[in-house]
Amino acid sequence: MPPTRNRNPQKLNITLAHAPAKSDARDITALCVFGAHARDAELCSAKGPLLEAVRAILSAGEFKGDEDESLLLHTSTQDGAQRLLLLGMGQREGERNAHERDDTRGVRRAAAAAVRRANEAKARGVAFILPACEDPARIARAAAEGAHLGSYANDFYQSVVDGEDGSTLVEFVIISDVQDESVRARMNEEIGRGRIVGESINWARSLADEPGASLPPREFARRAAEMAAEFGLVVETLGAEEIRARGMGGLWGVGQGSDEPPALIVVRYEPEELSEEAEAARVNSDANGNASVGDELFAFVGKGITFDTGGISIKPAKNMEEMKADMAGGAAALGALRAIAQLKPRRRIVAIVPTAENMPSGKSIKPGDVVRTLAGYTIEVVDTDAEGRLVLVDGITYAKSLGATRIVDLATLTGSIIVALGDHRTGLFSNDDAWAAQVTRASERAGEPVWRMPVSDDYEKKIESDIADFKNYGGRPDATGAALLLSKFAAPTPWVHLDIAATAWLEEPTTYSPAGATGTGVRTLVELVCGSEHGAR
Ligand code: BES
Ligand code: MN
Ligand code: ZN
Repeated sequence: MPPTRNRNPQKLNITLAHAPAKSDARDITALCVFGAHARDAELCSAKGPLLEAVRAILSAGEFKGDEDESLLLHTSTQDGAQRLLLLGMGQREGERNAHERDDTRGVRRAAAAAVRRANEAKARGVAFILPACEDPARIARAAAEGAHLGSYANDFYQSVVDGEDGSTLVEFVIISDVQDESVRARMNEEIGRGRIVGESINWARSLADEPGASLPPREFARRAAEMAAEFGLVVETLGAEEIRARGMGGLWGVGQGSDEPPALIVVRYEPEELSEEAEAARVNSDANGNASVGDELFAFVGKGITFDTGGISIKPAKNMEEMKADMAGGAAALGALRAIAQLKPRRRIVAIVPTAENMPSGKSIKPGDVVRTLAGYTIEVVDTDAEGRLVLVDGITYAKSLGATRIVDLATLTGSIIVALGDHRTGLFSNDDAWAAQVTRASERAGEPVWRMPVSDDYEKKIESDIADFKNYGGRPDATGAALLLSKFAAPTPWVHLDIAATAWLEEPTTYSPAGATGTGVRTLVELVCGSEHGAR
């Protein structure tokens, strides 16, 4: 029999319980263990014989409780656990810089690692013991998000042999001894939100992991429309002719070398009762004219290059296959809307994804060509591989034409940001300190850390052209040059640019994720519009 293709996405059932159920031999009890130096009470949430077992293992030195470390043991205890999974958490929050560490991040990763280990071990259920903390609802949500993230597999094209598709886990039970029923109700709500966000991140990842051939701009737009229909979002896609007719010369210029036409995907979220309330808010707005929620329109602009060969300024062959994920910013913007449509905040949001395939051909844009952008500015294209900024400036201008009052763009924009920051932090650029601070706080709550980089006229020379208003490349450091060019189009609207070139893609698998797309940005955007600035909502 020929092998069957395309395994189904794993469906996890996540619930909250007081204690692990009478254990099935195929089930696993997962325990978060803080660093070996943790005080006894903070070591882990286990008591009695389980705690004794953990102590013995730690003192044997086989497992240290370091971050991302895990150990699966076969054991038998009074609790009935037959397989025990220890998940290292490193030091506890507060033992190092608070801005660098947060238990939610560790728990999210631990839950993801637990799901991955459980699938490897062919387990059917995991009882995940939640570490004690001040905000159990927030931690429960992180565990639910992590469990969903851990269930993600990108081996879509691997054959399934003997009907075994590698994912056996169906039950993920979050164990907490919190007694207060109202707190438990909030935990259950947050577990539901964690599912929504986790699934939306996985949706974005699956688009970015899709090969370029199976996700050209038209297919990207079709998938966005399918998602929008499922969740009640409004979608509108501009095709190649409209892009040209409207004067989006940046997007058109990048797309012109490909047999696959470019597109501009626009997905909107409108809160239900907002229209009336917005009117009332406008009438009631104070003497200073402070904008109400209803007056604001947030725009998320995502780079959507479905494959980046570099064009005529062609890239070297090494690692070029990763350029199938050059639409990760666009996927993240759409993934955020997918979650937002279900979380229903009272704020208008639009996602805009300029999408094209950057190819060399007889029709391609050439180094030295000049494009006229939607904003009216001309740009000399000195390097066709600096294509992201060309499509983004048209996306940003389009966002402003729709009335965007605040913009966040996400783009796998420059190799230079990888050199600058490595792959643990996204580069944040902004023209507005308050907006930058708001996005930064959201990213910290989301566990997707950013690092602010300059947008400064010091770099003006890099984007000065002899024959046009700007040029698209002027040498390194290029991340700052690219951001400066974008800022010319974003002004005067408050804008944040997230260069996710390093954080959107994982080169090597980890305990909590396969190699490939990470879905970075989704959580930050969701947190930005749905999260609370003051801890738990
Ligand atoms: N998509 C790339 C940036 C990138 C590089 C993303 C590596 C993820 C991993 C972008 O379009 C690009 O090609 N940038 C060039 C610009 C330069 C040649 C002008 C770069 O950064 O090398
Ligand atoms: Mn490029
Ligand atoms: Zn690119």
